[in-house]
Amino acid sequence: MLRAAFLFLSRRRQLRRWMETSPVAARLTRRFIAGQRLEDVIAVARRLQQEGILSTLDHLGENVTSPEEAAAARACIELALDSIAAAALPATVSIKLTQFGLDISDSLCRANVATVLDKARSVGSRVEIDMESSEYVDRTLQIVQDLHSGGNCLRAVLQAYLYRTADDLRRLNSLRIPVRLCKGAYNEPPSVAWPNKSDVNASYARLARLLLDEGEYPAFATHDPRMIDIVLEHAARTSRPPASFEFQMLYGVRRDLQRLLVSNGYRLRLYVPYGDAWYPYFMRRLAERPANALFILKNLFRH
Ligand code: FDA
Repeated sequence: MLRAAFLFLSRRRQLRRWMETSPVAARLTRRFIAGQRLEDVIAVARRLQQEGILSTLDHLGENVTSPEEAAAARACIELALDSIAAAALPATVSIKLTQFGLDISDSLCRANVATVLDKARSVGSRVEIDMESSEYVDRTLQIVQDLHSGGNCLRAVLQAYLYRTADDLRRLNSLRIPVRLCKGAYNEPPSVAWPNKSDVNASYARLARLLLDEGEYPAFATHDPRMIDIVLEHAARTSRPPASFEFQMLYGVRRDLQRLLVSNGYRLRLYVPYGDAWYPYFMRRLAERPANALFILKNLFRH
């Protein structure tokens, strides 16, 4: 019930405006968000690099309503890619298509993504296209397929909680499009997604094996030790070398598990958000683990 409440609150625009301009915003969000500025996230990515951890930078924002806002989001990502190149960081960028204008028009969004994709290709990085709520899945995957031109500079995301995902995964695998597999973070109806956690986990396990068997440089985005074990067991059984796939986790989540994977020689990429449009992202993190709310409140009053 708390999960549904946080996801409901994540879509309240008034509350979002109030929270994002609140004077305590930075103290509230510091566990999950690198900071407001590009320099903040570059500093975090540099520190992670020293710890042997890769990163993917997420300039926070979603559901823009004008072409100007979409162009501004695109410009931020271009700057991020320039900074990644200048600092020679092992980093990619993660974007949301509604931040690039998907709610305005598919063609505007596609053109914005094509621009950052060219940039990523030219600096040897990659654009990872986050997956949003189920109403966007068809159009997101269409744009991914339209823009994929071989090579490794684009990655799609699929969500294990959706019934449709096995079909999508087989198609992307056959097109050699790299995939990040996650469980899924939005409030979906039972008509499109498994409502029970155990079914979502079973789906993740099946899809992870399929992705390892057929996928192009797979990425497993999870903090669930059982899912990580399933990936590692299947990779060992099929003699898949550790350098041929990666794990991905969120900045600030399960740092113990992050260190364990890296010290055992596995590739780990952290998803590191930055910027001031933090509210929906932050609320989804609370929905995943309502106990975070308590932890954050305690930190707020600690000096
Ligand atoms: P699960 O939710 O079962 O959690 C397993 C354990 O991890 C918990 O018991 C807890 O210990 C820890 N944990 C998980 N979430 C936590 C949190 N917020 N705070 C503290 N501890 C936590 N979703 C989506 O719909 N579209 C997308 O594009 C992406 N992209 C993405 C990228 C990356 C790198 C990650 C790691 C995740 C995503 N997600 C996502 C989010 C994903 O769908 C999912 O909601 C979360 O990863 C939580 O699921 P877990 O697999 O971690 O398992």
